[in-house]
Amino acid sequence: MPRAESGLSVLSDDFAADPYRYFAGLREHAPVHYEPAIDSYFLSRHRDVKRVLTDHHEFSTETLQVRAEPVMRGPVLAQMTGAEHTAKRKIVVRGFTGQALKDHVRAIQADAAELITPFLPRGRVDLVNDFGKPLAVNVTLDVLGLDKKDRGRVALWNSGVAEFITSMTLTPERRRHCLDCAEQLEAYLVPLIEQRRRHPGEDLISKLCTAEFDGIAMSNRDVTALIINVLAAATEPADKTLALLFRHLIDHPEQLAQVRRDPGLLPAAIAETLRFTPPVQLIPRQSEKDAEFAGTTVPAGATVFCMIGAANRDPDAFSAPDTFDIHRPDLGTARSFTAAAQHLAFGTGLHQCVGAAFARAQIETVAAMLVPLLDRLRYSPGFRYRETGLYTRGPASLSLDFTPVRSGAPVPG
Ligand code: HEM
Repeated sequence: MPRAESGLSVLSDDFAADPYRYFAGLREHAPVHYEPAIDSYFLSRHRDVKRVLTDHHEFSTETLQVRAEPVMRGPVLAQMTGAEHTAKRKIVVRGFTGQALKDHVRAIQADAAELITPFLPRGRVDLVNDFGKPLAVNVTLDVLGLDKKDRGRVALWNSGVAEFITSMTLTPERRRHCLDCAEQLEAYLVPLIEQRRRHPGEDLISKLCTAEFDGIAMSNRDVTALIINVLAAATEPADKTLALLFRHLIDHPEQLAQVRRDPGLLPAAIAETLRFTPPVQLIPRQSEKDAEFAGTTVPAGATVFCMIGAANRDPDAFSAPDTFDIHRPDLGTARSFTAAAQHLAFGTGLHQCVGAAFARAQIETVAAMLVPLLDRLRYSPGFRYRETGLYTRGPASLSLDFTPVRSGAPVPG
């Protein structure tokens, strides 16, 4: 067994408190970091991460059979390859592009206005817990065509699913809780799927129910897994990115002022937020044969974690990588939400995020509404910023003060 490098454990409390402090050391001295407690390898260099995510023969998504399938109740997109993957990805994409996207943007504006309005006269909002989290769940419910009155329970079940996928170690009790959440989510979804088969609408669930693959309609199990896949994949990173965007703009008041003057800079600010602090920090893969990185061999069958946060701060990929700069020339805003992105926040290769363009539309729509509305934006007195999460990472809360807005004043849409 290889030894853990220089005593560092990526599972330690110190690392969890601020992983960014350790990334340069890992890239330079331990680009292939072995973590004995979970028998896994962590790669931190941009080129190594890119290689793992794009070489689908050398590195597979086999590990998701254990990490995701039990709570997804069936195989997820990331486990599929070849024609099946292409076909099912296309069906999912149809749920949030074209006319569907325009309808969703209108729904996002209405949802965001409804959620922020009660906080405007108070001049204070927790952008994570009062706004971003409920909004992200609402948006996903809208895409799937699920009733928003079910938001509370769907969010609860979804958090159990997410905990299962993103935990490095789970106690038997937490594991049982996560599996219970997944079972309840499945029990809620199956009657809805059957109802959509009988009366299809324009929503993604209907599209999944009516689509055929190889001339055969997908089973309830397949549709359930894809719904849970989208639910889990879409909500968490979107709300974290929105909060991180506001955090960075508040910490860089000159860039916030530029965005206020020119909202056309918002896509660049979102792209730079994704590079600087990617909400999905780890992407797992399995090595299919022995693979060498920086003189170290990762054996066949090993679990390999791509460290997206570390790769996105690699000086070989970005100049002055630890500086937040919405004008950085090496990012390329237009390609940042496509397969040609230089940052790896959406992954890359075959399984690159299918919702990247939708995520951009969603975050841009909401930020374009909030930025002009929330004047003199600052942290609330006494607020202490804290991020949590090793796998997905974002602020635990973000209490912000701003100039109170008269009640009854129209919210821009
Ligand atoms: C800022 C927001 C988002 C970020 C940072 C993000 C990040 C990612 C990453 C890193 C992956 C690759 C996982 C892998 O390679 O194993 C991924 C895949 C995926 N994402 Fe996203 N995502 C975001 C928003 C969304 C949204 C809004 C949706 C849907 C509406 C979505 C749906 C998916 C799906 C279905 C996959 C699996 C694709 C496949 O395996 O072919 N994501 N996402």
